[in-house]
Amino acid sequence: MELVKWNDKFATGIASVDHEHEELIATINSFYSALTHDYSKAQLVNSLNNIYGAIHAHFMLEEKLMRKNGYDGYIEHSHDHAQLLDALRDITMDLESSSTLDEEKLKAQLSDWFLVHFKTHDSRLHTLEKLIAKRENESNRLIQALKKIKAIFIK
Ligand SMILES: [Fe+2]
Ligand SMILES: [Fe+2]
Repeated sequence: MELVKWNDKFATGIASVDHEHEELIATINSFYSALTHDYSKAQLVNSLNNIYGAIHAHFMLEEKLMRKNGYDGYIEHSHDHAQLLDALRDITMDLESSSTLDEEKLKAQLSDWFLVHFKTHDSRLHTLEKLIAKRENESNRLIQALKKIKAIFIK
């Protein structure tokens, strides 16, 4: 069973981001399936730490693309990333310190944690995709112009 379900509405149009989103969903779902099977607390904490690492790297990718392309929602979006990483740390620390595991609470925390950001900040990355395309277009035009200039001067 899946905790987070991929929805085509999540697609941003940026291939590297969409690819990582699908991978992250698969990672969270495999954590969920470990939860519903035999597990030890140490294994779950280890999995959450791995999820943290993958998500941190993913956020770095999005933030780099946003900065590079002058995305107007960069500040709010990156702020939400920082809060999400803090929340994931809290979820992991809760799990580490508790003697019993509240599966329902953990499932709700993880799915809310992920889906709310997807539906709000990440779904708006469509506008970033347009900025990337525009930037590539401009740089192609610049390359063409430079080639023409070179052809005039070097004959
Ligand atoms: Fe994302
Ligand atoms: Fe994001």
